[in-house]
Amino acid sequence: MKIKDITAREILNAKGNPAVEATVVLQDGSTGIASCPQGTSVGSYEAAEVRDHDMTRFYGNGMLKAVNTVTHVIAKDLIGMDATKQREIDKRMIELDGTQNKSKLGVNAILPVSMAVAKAASASEHLPLFRYLHSFLGEKSVAEKMPTPLFNIVNGGAHAMNTFDFQEFIIIPATFKTFEQCIHMGTGLYHALRDFLLSNGLSTLVGDEGGFAPVLSTNYDGLSLLTQAIETTNRRIGFDVFFGIDAASNNFYRDRVYHIKDRGSELTAKAMNDFYETLLKEFKILYLEDILSEDDWDGWKDAMSRLAEGALIVGDDLVATNPYRLQMAINKQAINAVVVKPNQIGTVIESLALVDVARAAGLKVIVSHRSGETNDDFIADFAVAVAADYAKFGAPARGERIAKYNRLLAIASLLER
Ligand code: PGA
Ligand code: ZN
Repeated sequence: MKIKDITAREILNAKGNPAVEATVVLQDGSTGIASCPQGTSVGSYEAAEVRDHDMTRFYGNGMLKAVNTVTHVIAKDLIGMDATKQREIDKRMIELDGTQNKSKLGVNAILPVSMAVAKAASASEHLPLFRYLHSFLGEKSVAEKMPTPLFNIVNGGAHAMNTFDFQEFIIIPATFKTFEQCIHMGTGLYHALRDFLLSNGLSTLVGDEGGFAPVLSTNYDGLSLLTQAIETTNRRIGFDVFFGIDAASNNFYRDRVYHIKDRGSELTAKAMNDFYETLLKEFKILYLEDILSEDDWDGWKDAMSRLAEGALIVGDDLVATNPYRLQMAINKQAINAVVVKPNQIGTVIESLALVDVARAAGLKVIVSHRSGETNDDFIADFAVAVAADYAKFGAPARGERIAKYNRLLAIASLLER
């Protein structure tokens, strides 16, 4: 089914910044609409956005250049192509861009088109998006399945500007729970934490990903807050629910050392891993994301040798959904799990291919949102399509997070039928 028209416009994301939304219409009238999210703690190895830098609009963050790229450059090339040939379409955009990091056309122009093409084609084929996407995976791929949700219910770092150096404090339902049970638990504990904060005179204002952002002191305090709040419920830590951290450590790594409020002095990678080791001993932590900075390979290898037995060692900024970075991480045995964010690499096919490589290397897969999301729910279908082990879509709060959880609920009921 051929592409008849491609248009684009500027919309807003959850941070009040512009985002590009693309609309793809096929000759049979099938339509796909998709938009590109934006990160706050953006790694150096991510695909690049093209912003307008016109300081008279949106503090320079306008995206009219990218909108223009979609309507005048990409559309010209893709109109008339068969929308079900996602590989050819994404390849064409990669060639049109011609750079290593999509910096000519911008990931904010390429990705919305790539996702909108997939949505339109799945509609034309009368397939749910997750089933349609699954067909592009390698032969050895496992069947679609619901991911376990990772609920980021306390926000810190660049997402809250409160006192925590770590960006995310996550609760993880036990994997034997059904998806609906996971949602039930996540929302229940979110509300229990809110009550606990209120009864202790702490703020219930939320950060970028919907998690609470109280002003405490150290990262240790964040974990003990979660522990105390959960202990007020009938959920059992270490049985029903576990903890995770996204340290987003690039943000507190300066001059080759780490700076956290839990320790007075500047920490080497080894000392940082000592700190994580003490946290693992005290709290039921299963998940450690970006605990070392994106170029600290020796630190990552040390973490894998000391911490990986009880926890996932997860690369987000380290890998940046980039196939070369992933191969480096695999060769160096730096991680045992990887975050996949389509806007870190820029096309649907490259994102799917990354999952195939990760799986072949035995890594767990986490499909993740960004802090600057729109209400686009593409990644919910993507997570099910690739049978992701985990979906990282924030707290069960704020419309742009809820859009993804609601889509996962809809898919769960489809899969049960
Ligand atoms: P970002 O953070 O979307 O603000 O970059 C998300 C993450 O680090 O996982
Ligand atoms: Zn992260």
